[in-house]
Amino acid sequence: MNIHIFENEEDLNMTGAGLIASLLQTKPRAVLGLATGSSPVGIYKQLITMHQKGLVSFAQAHSFNLDEYVGLPTKHRESYRSFMNEQLFNHIDIDLSRTNVPNGEASDLAAECADYERRLEDLGPVDLQILGIGHNGHIAFNEPATELTAITHVVDLKEETRQANARFFDSIDEVPTQAITMGVGSILKAKQILLIARGEEKAEIIREAFMGPITTSCPASLLQCHPNVVVLLDRAAGSLVR
Ligand code: GLP
Repeated sequence: MNIHIFENEEDLNMTGAGLIASLLQTKPRAVLGLATGSSPVGIYKQLITMHQKGLVSFAQAHSFNLDEYVGLPTKHRESYRSFMNEQLFNHIDIDLSRTNVPNGEASDLAAECADYERRLEDLGPVDLQILGIGHNGHIAFNEPATELTAITHVVDLKEETRQANARFFDSIDEVPTQAITMGVGSILKAKQILLIARGEEKAEIIREAFMGPITTSCPASLLQCHPNVVVLLDRAAGSLVR
């Protein structure tokens, strides 16, 4: 576990973007694991700047996103597909046909999950997986539970997760109740994992995830089993890390 705590946002973003850019420079056909949420946005901005300066190309890369809401139209501004297009894909040279986001509008959700997992198997393993962390320790949409699911599956969102994500919608009623998410097994298969957390409200869960016991009640704690995890924190999120 490689934990870095940054005094300023720019250094954190440059370090994260630098890792992704160096991967693409040495392996242009790399498979990137991408995340939504506010945590990776600064890194995506930095990657866009690097791309505009001609320092990095995504033309041959593939990407897989962690999750997508069920039942939200793909074109809805808060779908994770829209988020990725807005925050990254529309501003770089990635081939959209090589970007994978689960289809939350699929009529057969079980078949969509199985197909997503098969695509991951065929193109994977993911070279570098970006992750945020939920306030309750969820990674992607793998919520705390007595048992976790290894592969891509449909999940019922916890009320606290819906509340946390309600800030992006007009009201809590609009927040979907289910999502498709890669499983913890699919995530842990990545060769390298880059977890990002910012702000004081993430300090306690970061302590639990990386300093506490490995437990399904904090899904992020399973990352302690992975041999190559880099954690980038701002000072507030890292304030309880010893
Ligand atoms: C959502 C996503 C997660 C993300 C989490 C934290 O629930 N499904 O992948 O890590 O939110 O989001 P934020 O980075 O905005 O705190």
